[in-house]
Amino acid sequence: MAKRVARVLIEADEVQAFVKRIAEEINRDYAGKKVMLICVLKGAFIFLGDLIRYLDVDCEVDFMAVSSYEGVKSTGVVRILKDLDSDISGKHVIVVEDIVDTGLTLDHLTNLLSTRGPASIRVCTAFDKPSRRKVDTAVDYIGRSIPDEFIVGYGLDFDEYYRNLPYVAVLEDVPAEELDEQ
Ligand code: IMP
Ligand code: MG
Repeated sequence: MAKRVARVLIEADEVQAFVKRIAEEINRDYAGKKVMLICVLKGAFIFLGDLIRYLDVDCEVDFMAVSSYEGVKSTGVVRILKDLDSDISGKHVIVVEDIVDTGLTLDHLTNLLSTRGPASIRVCTAFDKPSRRKVDTAVDYIGRSIPDEFIVGYGLDFDEYYRNLPYVAVLEDVPAEELDEQ
């Protein structure tokens, strides 16, 4: 079924306001320290890009790509598609996520990263869907909590599209008749 934007859930200026607010929290919490930001691809790339421009602590950036899927067991499994280039041992790590939904991806990721000996590990997400949580995983910085709706924009996709929207939107199905007319 084809989709189109049904309505805007969070305007671009509201997104920028929470990114700035999170950056101020990080600047305060890590004052005098160096941080290693780990961007979880692909969804978090825009959030990371905006966030680092408001940071004044010294920061390194690295990227990781994971795919999450539910196996036969309901625990969920995370497959690493691209691992970090750098060693995180002794570093203050902040995982930068687009959205925390069930929390399974994040839980597996933070468990994995903590085996690599970081000095500390915290999580920062642009969006949070607390009502969908299946596992109690710590999230330290949250941009906006949202209801249980599938969102796109600001890095988040539906079938790889819509990542470029500067705002956050909810999609709707396009009836087949309307597609035929285009
Ligand atoms: P979790 O393991 O269920 O927390 O899955 C989180 C991942 O699912 C996110 O990093 C997104 O890639 C994807 N995801 C969850 N909810 C949405 C949504 O509303 N829009 C787009 N992607 C989503
Ligand atoms: Mg993601």
